[in-house]
Amino acid sequence: MVWLLIGGLLAIGVVLTRWPAVHWLPADTFYMVLTAHGIDMLIFWIIFFEIAVLYFAASTLLRCRIATPKIAWLAFALMLIGSIVNNVAVFRGASSVMMTSYVPMMAEPNFYLGLILFAVGALIACFVFFGTLVVAKKEKTYEGSVPLVTFGAITAAIIAVFTISSGAIILIPTWLMSLAW
Ligand code: HEM
Repeated sequence: MVWLLIGGLLAIGVVLTRWPAVHWLPADTFYMVLTAHGIDMLIFWIIFFEIAVLYFAASTLLRCRIATPKIAWLAFALMLIGSIVNNVAVFRGASSVMMTSYVPMMAEPNFYLGLILFAVGALIACFVFFGTLVVAKKEKTYEGSVPLVTFGAITAAIIAVFTISSGAIILIPTWLMSLAW
């Protein structure tokens, strides 16, 4: 929710610049703010929220304990550190590559490193979710099939594993490129 707040505050800068009568920020600041807005909203807020939904759908809806709380905290720490490292890189001003961050528009190495750490954390969290489903099944905390919301969360988590891992993998060569390796 903090990332949603930050993304919303940044949206004010984006809107007041796109509004021709106001045209608030100069171009370089605008693209920096737009990059942070896009990433904080569509990557950090959305995926933090998705992981929260996964944990809720597995533990609360199935009345089951989280499979591995310590690993879940590790995943959260990676996501938090990664998102902060990425934002610090963006606000240093040399990583205004937009949300999509296409090569060869180069950002600072920490821009990519932050995204990779975040993605690894999110992936670990997806597997904590799957593990929690296994625990619920084994300990028979529910009867019959899983509730529809949990089913939807399983679908979302399967898609997330594919998208987040491909996103993280493609950023590794990009990160090495930004380190001039
Ligand atoms: C708080 C209300 C919001 C406002 C006023 C707002 C406003 C804007 C504006 C004006 C742009 C630039 C469009 C352009 O110049 O072509 C933009 C871009 C964008 N917004 Fe928002 N937005 C808001 C919320 C969100 C939310 C909730 C998300 C995603 C969950 C989001 C994701 C994005 C993305 C991904 C971009 C493109 C960034 C890029 O090109 O790198 N925004 N937004």
